[in-house]
Amino acid sequence: MATLEGKQIVLGVSGGIAAYKAVELLRLLTKAGAEVSVVMTANACEFVTPLTFQTLSNNPVHTHMFDLYQEKEIGHISLADKADMCVVAPATANIMGKLSSGIADDLLSTTLMATKAPVVLAPSMNVNMYESAALQHNLQVLTQRGFHIIDPDDGYLACGWEGKGKLPSPEHILAWIERVLTPADLAGERVLVSAGPTREEIDPVRYVSNYSSGKMGYAIARSAWERGAEVVLVSGPTALEAPVGVRRVSVTSAREMYAAVMHELPEASVVIKAAAVADYRPCSAAAQKIKKKPGTMSVELEPNPDILAQIGAQKTEQIVVGFAAETHDILRHAQEKLQRKNLDILVANDVTAAGAGFDVETNVVKFLHADGRVEDMPQQSKVEVAYALLDRVSACITANRKSKRAD
Ligand code: PMT
Repeated sequence: MATLEGKQIVLGVSGGIAAYKAVELLRLLTKAGAEVSVVMTANACEFVTPLTFQTLSNNPVHTHMFDLYQEKEIGHISLADKADMCVVAPATANIMGKLSSGIADDLLSTTLMATKAPVVLAPSMNVNMYESAALQHNLQVLTQRGFHIIDPDDGYLACGWEGKGKLPSPEHILAWIERVLTPADLAGERVLVSAGPTREEIDPVRYVSNYSSGKMGYAIARSAWERGAEVVLVSGPTALEAPVGVRRVSVTSAREMYAAVMHELPEASVVIKAAAVADYRPCSAAAQKIKKKPGTMSVELEPNPDILAQIGAQKTEQIVVGFAAETHDILRHAQEKLQRKNLDILVANDVTAAGAGFDVETNVVKFLHADGRVEDMPQQSKVEVAYALLDRVSACITANRKSKRAD
């Protein structure tokens, strides 16, 4: 997990109406423990006062290259040297034009040209400016040179137009900053994650389901993206927002999950199935609400396809990870699932234990490996469990590559 604690971040603010959102981004960065130096262009100062940023960052705000006091105290190059990362939000067409053509005529453009730290740019502007050939060319050049560019959102723009050009939310930009600061050991991997419950319809108002909230699977999806992977998340119904950078495919029933997972499978190099798929569904769903009658009633169930078992049966080079939600004889049941479903790793959790399983923020898991190793993990947040699991997945990928080279 990327921690921002103690990180030196240069927050560049250029002159767009979205400059006010940079104030909230600054708040999030300082809350996460980062030491933030704000550099504003002259135009940015027309939208928000330096005093706002100064008060919230607890640091002087840098606005001029040749300010005698600022130059004596900081020196315009030292900001570039001490940065662990620079982020420009909003990044105007002007600042990106300067960066791509090598113009350094104010403190922000000079700092960005002089720094060796990674630079994240969050463009925001009128949709026609964004779509212009010049801007698109500059974005291409900057991407090739290793700048990290966050796609602007679509929507209603302050200039009255609708389209692409909105600055994404401060939380979205923060997620990108964390990703860029995290070692990208999963870059080049395509990770397919499933999460959440499935719902099996009884009638138009009732269904069979389970207590899965999706938290475990979403933590894995978010963490895999942070570590550089391209991530698809096939999700049953949850109250969670799609993690930044992750493509979410929403499904309801086990059969829909089966279809979505099988559709995505050929592109995936890693499959992690944290979803709690209903093993059974009602044999038939009533077309109308079933009316209450005296006495008992029964619902006949039939089995759903076992998605993971099928993936395990047909896998060639993919790394396949399953979860097992158990209530007793954890190890025995987990070992049986690991073998029967032909998995590389099985994550077993006792869903009756405190701080483990459904809907809580933490989990207590065992990692069972195909070579027989079993690792007992302590109680950790679901994000920590996700990171620990991805460490093991990353080790499997390295081992596979080594054995391929040896062949
Ligand atoms: O979502 P949370 O609230 O955060 O809770 C997390 C969790 C408890 C759901 C998660 O940690 C977990 O254990 N997920 C797997 C739950 C489960 O369905 O276990 P299982 O033992 O029934 O299934 C074993 C594996 O086969 C799972 O990877 C499951 O996705 C898969 N499976 C099961 C049945 C089926 N028809 N198709 C499948 O692919």
